[in-house]
Amino acid sequence: RRFTVAVVGATGAVGETMLNILAERNFPVAEIIPLASERSAGGEVEYAGRKVKVQDLATFDPKGVDIALFSAGGSVSKEYAPKFAAAGAVVIDNSSAFRYDDDVPLVVSEVNPEAAKNRPRGIIANPNCSTMQMLVALAPLHREYGIERINVATYQSVSGAGRSALEELGRQTGALLNFQDPDPQRFPVQIAFNLIPHIDDFLDNGFTKEEMKLVWETRKILGDDSIQVNPTAVRVPVFYGHSEAVAIETRKKVTVEAARELLARSPGVEVVDERKAGGYPTPVTHASGNDPVYVGRIREDFSHPRGLNLWIVADNIRKGAALNAVQLAELVAAGG
Ligand code: A2P
Repeated sequence: RRFTVAVVGATGAVGETMLNILAERNFPVAEIIPLASERSAGGEVEYAGRKVKVQDLATFDPKGVDIALFSAGGSVSKEYAPKFAAAGAVVIDNSSAFRYDDDVPLVVSEVNPEAAKNRPRGIIANPNCSTMQMLVALAPLHREYGIERINVATYQSVSGAGRSALEELGRQTGALLNFQDPDPQRFPVQIAFNLIPHIDDFLDNGFTKEEMKLVWETRKILGDDSIQVNPTAVRVPVFYGHSEAVAIETRKKVTVEAARELLARSPGVEVVDERKAGGYPTPVTHASGNDPVYVGRIREDFSHPRGLNLWIVADNIRKGAALNAVQLAELVAAGG
Protein backbone atom coordinates (compact mmCIF):
# COMPACT_ATOMS: atom_id res chain seq x y z
CA ARG A 1 0.00 0.00 0.00
CA ARG A 2 1.12 3.54 -0.75
CA PHE A 3 0.25 6.64 1.24
CA THR A 4 -0.77 10.22 0.60
CA VAL A 5 1.71 12.19 2.69
CA ALA A 6 1.40 15.88 3.58
CA VAL A 7 4.43 17.84 4.87
CA VAL A 8 3.33 20.96 6.75
CA GLY A 9 6.17 23.50 6.89
CA ALA A 10 7.72 22.00 3.74
CA THR A 11 9.75 25.12 2.97
CA GLY A 12 11.42 25.18 6.41
CA ALA A 13 14.74 23.70 7.53
CA VAL A 14 13.07 20.58 8.99
CA GLY A 15 10.33 20.27 6.35
CA GLU A 16 12.85 20.26 3.52
CA THR A 17 14.79 17.47 5.26
CA MET A 18 11.57 15.52 5.83
CA LEU A 19 11.01 15.53 2.05
CA ASN A 20 14.60 14.41 1.44
CA ILE A 21 14.46 11.61 3.99
CA LEU A 22 11.08 10.31 2.75
CA ALA A 23 12.67 9.99 -0.70
CA GLU A 24 16.02 8.62 0.57
CA ARG A 25 14.34 5.86 2.57
CA ASN A 26 11.88 5.04 -0.24
CA PHE A 27 8.85 5.68 1.91
CA PRO A 28 5.82 4.30 0.02
CA VAL A 29 4.41 7.64 -1.14
CA ALA A 30 1.42 7.69 -3.49
CA GLU A 31 1.24 11.49 -3.46
CA ILE A 32 3.36 14.10 -1.69
CA ILE A 33 1.69 17.35 -0.64
CA PRO A 34 4.01 20.17 0.53
CA LEU A 35 2.20 22.81 2.57
CA ALA A 36 3.30 26.16 3.99
CA SER A 37 1.88 29.62 4.61
CA GLU A 38 0.50 31.82 1.86
CA ARG A 39 3.92 33.50 1.79
CA SER A 40 5.47 30.57 -0.08
CA ALA A 41 2.36 28.92 -1.54
CA GLY A 42 2.69 28.61 -5.31
CA GLY A 43 6.47 28.17 -5.07
CA GLU A 44 8.18 24.82 -5.50
CA VAL A 45 10.14 22.38 -3.35
CA GLU A 46 12.09 19.34 -4.44
CA TYR A 47 10.99 15.79 -3.75
CA ALA A 48 12.75 12.72 -5.20
CA GLY A 49 14.43 14.75 -7.94
CA ARG A 50 11.34 16.57 -9.15
CA LYS A 51 9.69 19.90 -8.36
CA VAL A 52 6.41 19.87 -6.45
CA LYS A 53 4.15 22.88 -5.95
CA VAL A 54 3.70 24.23 -2.41
CA GLN A 55 0.08 24.68 -1.34
CA ASP A 56 -1.41 27.08 1.20
CA LEU A 57 -2.18 25.27 4.46
CA ALA A 58 -4.97 27.72 5.35
CA THR A 59 -7.09 26.79 2.32
CA PHE A 60 -6.06 23.13 1.94
CA ASP A 61 -8.67 20.38 2.43
CA PRO A 62 -7.01 17.53 4.40
CA LYS A 63 -9.51 14.87 3.20
CA GLY A 64 -7.60 11.95 1.68
CA VAL A 65 -4.32 12.59 3.53
CA ASP A 66 -3.07 9.38 5.20
CA ILE A 67 -0.05 10.73 7.07
CA ALA A 68 0.78 14.37 7.87
CA LEU A 69 4.21 15.44 9.09
CA PHE A 70 3.97 18.82 10.84
CA SER A 71 6.92 21.13 11.41
CA ALA A 72 5.62 24.69 11.15
CA GLY A 73 5.65 25.70 14.82
CA GLY A 74 3.40 25.10 17.81
CA SER A 75 0.57 27.48 16.95
CA VAL A 76 0.18 26.02 13.45
CA SER A 77 0.09 22.50 14.93
CA LYS A 78 -2.45 23.49 17.58
CA GLU A 79 -4.80 24.88 14.95
CA TYR A 80 -4.37 22.42 12.08
CA ALA A 81 -3.22 19.04 13.47
CA PRO A 82 -6.66 18.25 15.00
CA LYS A 83 -8.29 19.11 11.65
CA PHE A 84 -6.02 16.71 9.76
CA ALA A 85 -6.63 14.01 12.40
CA ALA A 86 -10.41 14.55 12.20
CA ALA A 87 -10.17 14.11 8.42
CA GLY A 88 -8.57 10.69 8.99
CA ALA A 89 -4.83 11.40 8.82
CA VAL A 90 -2.28 10.20 11.34
CA VAL A 91 -0.42 13.35 12.39
CA ILE A 92 3.26 13.21 13.36
CA ASP A 93 3.93 16.52 15.03
CA ASN A 94 7.41 17.99 15.50
CA SER A 95 6.25 20.92 17.64
CA SER A 96 5.86 20.93 21.42
CA ALA A 97 2.10 21.61 21.16
CA PHE A 98 0.94 18.11 22.20
CA ARG A 99 4.06 16.49 23.69
CA TYR A 100 2.92 16.67 27.29
CA ASP A 101 -0.69 15.56 26.74
CA ASP A 102 -1.40 12.14 28.30
CA ASP A 103 -3.39 10.99 25.28
CA VAL A 104 -0.61 11.83 22.79
CA PRO A 105 2.31 9.38 22.62
CA LEU A 106 5.83 10.88 22.57
CA VAL A 107 8.06 8.49 20.68
CA VAL A 108 11.74 7.96 19.85
CA SER A 109 11.73 5.18 17.26
CA GLU A 110 14.61 3.23 18.84
CA VAL A 111 13.39 3.72 22.43
CA ASN A 112 9.60 3.33 22.81
CA PRO A 113 8.18 2.44 19.35
CA GLU A 114 5.31 0.42 20.87
CA ALA A 115 3.88 3.67 22.34
CA ALA A 116 3.10 4.92 18.81
CA LYS A 117 0.31 2.31 18.50
CA ASN A 118 -1.87 3.95 21.13
CA ARG A 119 -2.85 7.32 19.63
CA PRO A 120 -6.47 8.10 20.58
CA ARG A 121 -6.30 11.59 19.05
CA GLY A 122 -4.61 10.44 15.85
CA ILE A 123 -1.51 12.44 16.84
CA ILE A 124 2.00 11.19 17.63
CA ALA A 125 4.44 13.76 19.01
CA ASN A 126 8.07 13.90 17.89
CA PRO A 127 10.36 14.74 20.84
CA ASN A 128 12.58 17.80 21.17
CA CYS A 129 15.89 17.44 19.35
CA SER A 130 18.03 17.53 22.51
CA THR A 131 15.96 14.90 24.31
CA MET A 132 15.89 12.75 21.18
CA GLN A 133 19.64 12.26 20.80
CA MET A 134 20.22 12.01 24.54
CA LEU A 135 17.72 9.16 24.93
CA VAL A 136 18.86 7.18 21.88
CA ALA A 137 22.15 6.88 23.80
CA LEU A 138 20.89 6.73 27.39
CA ALA A 139 17.85 4.42 27.09
CA PRO A 140 20.01 1.26 26.70
CA LEU A 141 22.07 2.31 29.74
CA HIS A 142 18.88 3.00 31.70
CA ARG A 143 17.51 -0.47 30.93
CA GLU A 144 20.69 -2.22 32.06
CA TYR A 145 21.89 -0.04 34.90
CA GLY A 146 18.97 2.16 36.03
CA ILE A 147 19.70 5.85 35.59
CA GLU A 148 18.84 7.86 38.72
CA ARG A 149 20.08 11.27 37.66
CA ILE A 150 21.23 13.05 34.49
CA ASN A 151 23.29 16.24 34.48
CA VAL A 152 23.35 17.66 30.97
CA ALA A 153 24.71 20.77 29.28
CA THR A 154 23.73 21.17 25.63
CA TYR A 155 25.62 22.90 22.82
CA GLN A 156 22.85 23.49 20.30
CA SER A 157 23.34 24.59 16.71
CA VAL A 158 21.36 27.45 15.20
CA SER A 159 19.50 25.26 12.68
CA GLY A 160 17.23 24.16 15.55
CA ALA A 161 15.81 27.68 15.47
CA GLY A 162 14.92 27.43 11.75
CA ARG A 163 16.03 28.90 8.48
CA SER A 164 16.11 32.52 9.70
CA ALA A 165 18.55 31.50 12.45
CA LEU A 166 20.88 29.82 9.94
CA GLU A 167 20.82 33.02 7.92
CA GLU A 168 21.54 35.16 10.97
CA LEU A 169 24.68 33.19 11.89
CA GLY A 170 25.95 33.45 8.32
CA ARG A 171 25.14 37.13 8.02
CA GLN A 172 26.66 38.07 11.41
CA THR A 173 29.82 36.08 10.72
CA GLY A 174 30.32 37.95 7.45
CA ALA A 175 29.45 41.31 9.02
CA LEU A 176 31.85 40.90 11.94
CA LEU A 177 34.73 39.80 9.70
CA ASN A 178 34.12 43.04 7.78
CA PHE A 179 34.10 45.19 10.95
CA GLN A 180 30.36 45.77 10.66
CA ASP A 181 27.63 45.74 13.32
CA PRO A 182 26.22 42.19 13.96
CA ASP A 183 22.68 43.64 14.32
CA PRO A 184 20.97 40.79 16.28
CA GLN A 185 17.43 40.03 15.08
CA ARG A 186 16.61 36.34 15.40
CA PHE A 187 18.58 35.84 18.65
CA PRO A 188 18.47 38.25 21.61
CA VAL A 189 22.23 38.91 21.43
CA GLN A 190 25.02 38.29 18.90
CA ILE A 191 25.36 34.55 18.12
CA ALA A 192 28.41 34.65 15.78
CA PHE A 193 31.64 34.09 17.80
CA ASN A 194 29.49 33.89 20.95
CA LEU A 195 27.36 31.52 23.12
CA ILE A 196 23.83 32.15 24.41
CA PRO A 197 22.61 30.32 27.56
CA HIS A 198 18.98 30.88 26.64
CA ILE A 199 16.75 28.75 24.36
CA ASP A 200 12.95 29.15 24.37
CA ASP A 201 11.15 31.08 27.12
CA PHE A 202 12.19 31.54 30.74
CA LEU A 203 9.92 29.79 33.27
CA ASP A 204 9.12 30.63 36.90
CA ASN A 205 11.72 28.17 38.27
CA GLY A 206 14.57 30.00 36.50
CA PHE A 207 15.03 27.25 33.91
CA THR A 208 14.16 27.81 30.26
CA LYS A 209 11.42 25.82 28.53
CA GLU A 210 14.08 24.14 26.37
CA GLU A 211 15.74 22.91 29.57
CA MET A 212 12.49 21.68 31.10
CA LYS A 213 11.71 19.75 27.87
CA LEU A 214 14.72 17.57 28.75
CA VAL A 215 13.15 16.85 32.15
CA TRP A 216 9.53 16.30 31.08
CA GLU A 217 10.26 14.39 27.87
CA THR A 218 12.89 12.09 29.40
CA ARG A 219 10.41 10.98 32.06
CA LYS A 220 7.54 10.50 29.60
CA ILE A 221 9.56 8.57 26.98
CA LEU A 222 11.32 6.30 29.48
CA GLY A 223 8.07 5.94 31.45
CA ASP A 224 9.88 6.71 34.71
CA ASP A 225 8.95 9.79 36.73
CA SER A 226 11.69 9.11 39.27
CA ILE A 227 14.55 10.07 36.93
CA GLN A 228 16.15 13.38 37.94
CA VAL A 229 17.40 15.62 35.16
CA ASN A 230 19.44 18.80 35.72
CA PRO A 231 19.79 20.62 32.37
CA THR A 232 21.49 23.72 30.97
CA ALA A 233 20.70 24.49 27.31
CA VAL A 234 23.09 26.70 25.34
CA ARG A 235 22.95 27.98 21.75
CA VAL A 236 26.34 27.88 20.00
CA PRO A 237 27.54 29.30 16.67
CA VAL A 238 27.40 25.95 14.84
CA PHE A 239 25.16 25.52 11.78
CA TYR A 240 24.13 21.86 12.06
CA GLY A 241 24.46 19.32 14.90
CA HIS A 242 23.74 19.46 18.61
CA SER A 243 26.28 18.27 21.20
CA GLU A 244 25.68 17.33 24.82
CA ALA A 245 28.00 16.89 27.78
CA VAL A 246 26.13 14.32 29.86
CA ALA A 247 26.92 12.96 33.33
CA ILE A 248 24.72 10.10 34.56
CA GLU A 249 24.40 8.49 37.98
CA THR A 250 23.17 4.90 37.90
CA ARG A 251 21.79 2.40 40.43
CA LYS A 252 24.30 -0.25 39.31
CA LYS A 253 27.88 0.75 38.51
CA VAL A 254 28.68 1.02 34.76
CA THR A 255 32.28 0.61 33.64
CA VAL A 256 33.64 2.32 30.54
CA GLU A 257 34.14 -1.05 28.81
CA ALA A 258 30.57 -2.20 29.55
CA ALA A 259 29.11 1.12 28.38
CA ARG A 260 31.09 1.04 25.13
CA GLU A 261 30.11 -2.56 24.45
CA LEU A 262 26.41 -1.92 25.17
CA LEU A 263 26.27 1.31 23.13
CA ALA A 264 28.13 -0.26 20.19
CA ARG A 265 25.27 -2.76 19.75
CA SER A 266 22.43 -0.28 20.46
CA PRO A 267 20.23 0.79 17.52
CA GLY A 268 20.89 4.26 16.13
CA VAL A 269 24.13 4.70 18.10
CA GLU A 270 27.69 4.87 16.83
CA VAL A 271 30.54 4.87 19.33
CA VAL A 272 33.48 7.12 18.36
CA ASP A 273 35.69 6.96 21.40
CA GLU A 274 39.43 6.90 20.94
CA ARG A 275 41.48 8.80 23.46
CA LYS A 276 43.50 10.78 20.96
CA ALA A 277 43.23 13.92 18.84
CA GLY A 278 40.15 13.68 16.65
CA GLY A 279 39.03 10.40 18.24
CA TYR A 280 35.67 11.87 19.28
CA PRO A 281 32.57 13.03 17.42
CA THR A 282 31.96 16.70 16.61
CA PRO A 283 29.03 18.34 14.80
CA VAL A 284 31.12 19.06 11.69
CA THR A 285 33.24 15.89 11.44
CA HIS A 286 30.50 13.38 12.28
CA ALA A 287 26.95 14.53 12.90
CA SER A 288 26.10 17.03 10.15
CA GLY A 289 24.19 15.30 7.35
CA ASN A 290 24.30 11.86 8.99
CA ASP A 291 21.77 9.70 10.79
CA PRO A 292 23.48 8.13 13.84
CA VAL A 293 23.72 9.49 17.34
CA TYR A 294 27.47 9.57 18.01
CA VAL A 295 28.86 8.89 21.49
CA GLY A 296 32.41 9.56 22.65
CA ARG A 297 34.50 10.76 25.61
CA ILE A 298 33.11 7.88 27.69
CA ARG A 299 34.74 7.96 31.11
CA GLU A 300 33.99 7.12 34.72
CA ASP A 301 33.20 10.12 36.91
CA PHE A 302 35.83 10.03 39.66
CA SER A 303 33.70 12.36 41.81
CA HIS A 304 30.86 9.81 42.10
CA PRO A 305 30.96 6.03 42.80
CA ARG A 306 28.38 5.20 40.09
CA GLY A 307 28.86 8.09 37.67
CA LEU A 308 29.63 7.98 33.95
CA ASN A 309 30.35 10.87 31.56
CA LEU A 310 29.51 10.87 27.85
CA TRP A 311 29.66 13.29 24.92
CA ILE A 312 26.65 12.84 22.61
CA VAL A 313 26.45 14.46 19.15
CA ALA A 314 23.79 14.18 16.42
CA ASP A 315 22.33 16.09 13.49
CA ASN A 316 19.44 17.93 15.15
CA ILE A 317 17.58 18.36 11.88
CA ARG A 318 17.87 14.65 10.98
CA LYS A 319 17.66 12.36 14.04
CA GLY A 320 16.59 15.31 16.18
CA ALA A 321 13.59 16.06 13.99
CA ALA A 322 12.99 14.93 10.39
CA LEU A 323 14.51 11.44 10.53
CA ASN A 324 12.64 10.39 13.67
CA ALA A 325 9.40 11.79 12.20
CA VAL A 326 9.88 9.66 9.06
CA GLN A 327 10.78 6.63 11.21
CA LEU A 328 7.48 7.17 13.05
CA ALA A 329 5.71 7.36 9.68
CA GLU A 330 7.34 4.00 8.84
CA LEU A 331 5.94 2.53 12.08
CA VAL A 332 2.48 3.84 11.15
CA ALA A 333 2.80 2.49 7.61
CA ALA A 334 3.82 -0.91 8.97
CA GLY A 335 0.55 -0.97 10.87
CA GLY A 336 1.93 0.13 14.22
P1 A2P B 1 6.68 29.72 4.92
O1 A2P B 1 7.78 29.41 3.95
O2 A2P B 1 5.39 29.97 4.20
O3 A2P B 1 7.01 30.78 5.91
P2 A2P B 1 11.62 27.29 9.75
O4 A2P B 1 11.43 26.62 11.07
O5 A2P B 1 12.81 26.82 9.00
O6 A2P B 1 11.58 28.77 9.89
O7 A2P B 1 10.35 26.89 8.85
C1 A2P B 1 9.03 27.10 9.27
C2 A2P B 1 8.08 26.44 8.29
O8 A2P B 1 6.74 26.61 8.78
C3 A2P B 1 8.10 27.06 6.92
O9 A2P B 1 7.85 26.08 5.96
C4 A2P B 1 6.95 28.07 6.98
O10 A2P B 1 6.39 28.36 5.72
C5 A2P B 1 5.97 27.26 7.79
N1 A2P B 1 4.97 28.14 8.42
C6 A2P B 1 5.18 29.12 9.31
N2 A2P B 1 4.02 29.71 9.66
C7 A2P B 1 3.05 29.07 8.97
C8 A2P B 1 1.63 29.21 8.88
N3 A2P B 1 0.96 30.12 9.59
N4 A2P B 1 0.95 28.36 8.06
C9 A2P B 1 1.61 27.43 7.35
N5 A2P B 1 2.94 27.26 7.38
C10 A2P B 1 3.66 28.07 8.18
